[in-house]
Amino acid sequence: MTDKHYTLIDPESGAELQLKRYDPTLGPSVLDIGALYGKLGVFTHDPGFGATSCCESNITFIDGEKGVLVYRGYPIEQLAEHSSFIEVCYLLLHGELPTPAQLAAFDESIRTHTMINETLLRFFNGFHHDAHPMAMVTGVVASMSAFYHDSTNISDPADREVFAHRMIAKIPTIAAAAYKHSLGQPFVYPKNDLSYCANLVNMLFAVPSESYEIKPIAVEALDLLFILHADHEQNCSTSTVRLAGSSGTNPYSAIAAGISALWGPAHGGANEAVINMLEEIGDASQIGKYIAKAKDKNDPFRLMGFGHRVYKNYDPRATIIRKMCHRVLETVGQENAVLLELAVELEQLALKDEYFIEKNLYPNVDFYSGIIYRALGIPTSMFTVMFAIARTVGWVAHWQEMVADPKSRIGRPRQLYNGPGLRDYAPINKRD
Ligand code: SDX
Repeated sequence: MTDKHYTLIDPESGAELQLKRYDPTLGPSVLDIGALYGKLGVFTHDPGFGATSCCESNITFIDGEKGVLVYRGYPIEQLAEHSSFIEVCYLLLHGELPTPAQLAAFDESIRTHTMINETLLRFFNGFHHDAHPMAMVTGVVASMSAFYHDSTNISDPADREVFAHRMIAKIPTIAAAAYKHSLGQPFVYPKNDLSYCANLVNMLFAVPSESYEIKPIAVEALDLLFILHADHEQNCSTSTVRLAGSSGTNPYSAIAAGISALWGPAHGGANEAVINMLEEIGDASQIGKYIAKAKDKNDPFRLMGFGHRVYKNYDPRATIIRKMCHRVLETVGQENAVLLELAVELEQLALKDEYFIEKNLYPNVDFYSGIIYRALGIPTSMFTVMFAIARTVGWVAHWQEMVADPKSRIGRPRQLYNGPGLRDYAPINKRD
């Protein structure tokens, strides 16, 4: 941290305020405006927090101009090529890549925490079979605090670790149970001898009436997708987890708040919206019509899976996922090749269009991921649930970082009020 300052001068009073500049390891410096209101009586105004740093973090860094994403300093391309999701979970939580012994112990702990309380499993019977899986997952995760009282003392590091392992271990079980309930099929219990993604595939697709053979490509593809979706600095859902957690609420409720935020089509719900959009477009001859709709200010339609608040270049995750699409379709789900061809054609036409070029709109992480999920036999309604499984470790890592930060305090933004000025109550017989 340097002691460089920016000087702010009040145009009316001439009062000056020195804003301290903090320089980071990577990325833009920040200005501390904490004294602004007290000294000059004004707030900053930044709807959507596009230019506002809300915290100090050591977890993930994104360079939107260069299309760079690093977890704890490691480029996403290297982690995607050499690591595993369970190892990335350890890295995000602990800040360093694990030794073989640390990885084995962490993996064992996650494998042995995958079951959920049997009573919690019965919660699913309270949902209609056609409830959206995200609604079921949100509700059941929020209910976890009613079952796991012994890991909600947020001031105890040991409790925080128990929560972290339970949350990461149980989210696939909850996700798979939501899917099975929507099918009217019996729940499939986790197996401790299966890896994280193999366990999920088994819980999603196995049935008690016959043996089920787990496809290696499904495990490999999910492991890669989960690495790519694991964290993304202060995105909407992670910021929601931090804000909810800043009140001191139990961690399961903070994660449930994050799941709710992720569901939106502008955020994690986009992967579901991309497939719905591609199916609505139908074939390449219709692409021009939809690109025109996306450019039409009077049309609410947006090209789902395109654009990003931070990336004004290619989302590095989309590049990696597109390659995996080809690999998966070579092995399974050939009937979805038409969706991939349509997506590639749509991308090529959009990226040649002045509107998308001028606004720096590129495919994001959600543009291709749904094609893989569809090819693996996962229904569109489960796509955002898959995103939530992966992002749970990111939410947990940020929650832990916030709770452990001695400078952390309850989040409470201010506003620019443009409502009515002060006025007196009018008795009802005096109102016109
Ligand atoms: C994720 O933050 C994260 O890190 C999120 C995420 C993560 O890992 O956590 O990366 C995951 O949420 C990816 C984004 C998934 N969402 C979508 O694919 C939905 C479609 N994209 C958009 O709705 C939009 O691009 C956002 C929400 C992603 C970003 O919106 P911004 O930053 O608020 O940008 P904006 O809405 O102000 O758009 C800037 C301009 C606008 O035009 P003008 O008003 O300047 O004329 O670009 C236009 C927008 O109309 N625009 C689009 C567009 N996205 C932006 N026009 C057509 N199609 C689009 N997809």
